[in-house]
Amino acid sequence: MAFKPVTARAHTNIALIKYWGKKDSKEMLPMNSSLSLTLDHFFTETQVGFDPALTQDVFYLNKQVLPVSSKVQRVMNEVRHQAGINTAAKIVSTNHVPTTAGLASSASAFAALAGAASRAAGLKLKPRDLSRLARKGSGSATRSIFGGFVEWHQGHDDLSSYAEQIAPTENWDIRVIAVVIDASQKKISSSQGMARAVNTSPYYPAWIQTATKQLKEIKQAIKEKDFTSLGQISELNALEMHVLNLSSTPHFSYFEPTTISIMNLVERLRARGIECYYTIDAGPNVKIICQEKSSLQVQKAVKKEIPNCQVLESQPGPGIQFIN
Ligand code: PMV
Repeated sequence: MAFKPVTARAHTNIALIKYWGKKDSKEMLPMNSSLSLTLDHFFTETQVGFDPALTQDVFYLNKQVLPVSSKVQRVMNEVRHQAGINTAAKIVSTNHVPTTAGLASSASAFAALAGAASRAAGLKLKPRDLSRLARKGSGSATRSIFGGFVEWHQGHDDLSSYAEQIAPTENWDIRVIAVVIDASQKKISSSQGMARAVNTSPYYPAWIQTATKQLKEIKQAIKEKDFTSLGQISELNALEMHVLNLSSTPHFSYFEPTTISIMNLVERLRARGIECYYTIDAGPNVKIICQEKSSLQVQKAVKKEIPNCQVLESQPGPGIQFIN
């Protein structure tokens, strides 16, 4: 059988209600449902071509051959299983997330891989099933199949844990400013971090309760186009996720001194009437949520505070696209 290579492009997303913990790491089922905004500025483009001449999968990332990770393997094996083939593939992936940015690219990477690999194997998966496939690579990738505001329903098994768009962003005025901070020391991976939080933070049950309530509240804010509530809920949810890390044994934190400077700056700007909010993931970078009218002012203030940091503005982005 001849296979035609397929290229897919998927954008990264920023979680406003975070996923931080798995209840089943084999099936990649999260402890709570989460909600994100897909971003236009950062994306991954991946081409997959199944080739009977290959004896094993080969993987290129940004023109470099890399070993095939267990997560990539898991997605590829699932595709082969669903398509009923055992052919190896060449995977060529390019991250259009600035390499120095240190921004998580696993969401866009595994969403693009799931799209390209499944189509290249002849599967025509519905978006929901594509999001389940992306989930096998990385939790946050589940949401990157869709554009706009996206909810990942935690579910209770492989079939019921998927994402879907809950609202488009056409009539939304929203900007996300990524403030790129250099991390001097290597931090704990998101998988390790969240497992430690689940297993050792005494506040974990409170996190689940609060995140569940915040998810309902933010969905209402999205429905009502209430930017202020959206920002307030997102900022608090991020802080609560990081409280889990600070209260784990052994405790850890993704914050660098500059992370805290930017958090303080956002709070000062807000006190001056410039409406903006922050959110932080498994790294030191801060993402500032604001509206068009304050975006330039916020970017200027950040550059003044930390002159050598990189500042990248994003707008809401689209769902997965197939290039050929
Ligand atoms: O799926 P991962 O390993 O990329 O973990 C994502 C964890 C956070 O980015 C911190 C939160 C989230 O929901 O994206």
